[in-house]
Amino acid sequence: MQIIKEPHKLTAIIKSYKKRGKTIGFVPTMGALHNGHVSLIKKARKENNIVVLSIFVNPTQFGPKEDYKKYPRNFSRDSAIAKKTGVDIIFAPEVKDIYKSGFSTYIEETNLSHILEGAIRPDHFRGVTTVVLKLFNTVQPDISYFGQKDYQQAVIIKKMVKDLNLDTEIKVLPTVREKDSLAQSSRNIYLNKEERKSAIVLYSSLIYAKELIENGLTDAEEIKKRMRETITKERLAKIDYIEIREPETLQPVKKITREVVILLAVKFGKVRLIDNVIMN
Ligand code: PAF
Repeated sequence: MQIIKEPHKLTAIIKSYKKRGKTIGFVPTMGALHNGHVSLIKKARKENNIVVLSIFVNPTQFGPKEDYKKYPRNFSRDSAIAKKTGVDIIFAPEVKDIYKSGFSTYIEETNLSHILEGAIRPDHFRGVTTVVLKLFNTVQPDISYFGQKDYQQAVIIKKMVKDLNLDTEIKVLPTVREKDSLAQSSRNIYLNKEERKSAIVLYSSLIYAKELIENGLTDAEEIKKRMRETITKERLAKIDYIEIREPETLQPVKKITREVVILLAVKFGKVRLIDNVIMN
């Protein structure tokens, strides 16, 4: 496994692989790898000749009061997982290589980026789309892999790929969960014991909503109300939003007659977690 820091070196290596007809699978991450990332890497390993994993904690997607500085970083642990899972190249650039002095060009999806997560984290998706486009330009992947846990991110990246005619296929893989159903996330380690226990209400409320729909309830407001009641029973849970949306446009749904995505964001102490299920 190679570890490359400089973007131009990686691009040169990728070019030579491509000349030899090799396909490139790409898994972009901010490190702190967990089983969700492992499932993306394994899928990339199965479907491509070369697997590139990027590890870059991207400063432009963090708000001024967010956890950029204390975001978990453990390169030796991450590289051991990457090696074991079959990564060929880790791309681990420094901030100065991605955002050169005087950097002033951003990519912004303007329709879906300011609702839901974007309403609470104003420049978050601008930071995500900017770095992801830069990573795509450097890695030139045939297929790029993202997790469904960050549902809105995946929808926005797919939209960027479509709108800008980017030549990579986006695959979104199911959320990987802990044994007790909590979605795997690099931020779960911030939860104390009590918060960790409460956090399972995220998925149980989503499953409850799914059951209500399966039993014929179609009124989105009523379903959200019942989810809210379930979640607020957990003393430590503070709801940011519970939403039922159209899966691609992320527009609100009033009456459930077709596929929907149910998304929520809930705080446990200082830790903010998101989760979702697709209901078809
Ligand atoms: O999902 C993440 O880990 C990040 O948002 C991503 C896609 C690697 C961009 O920094």
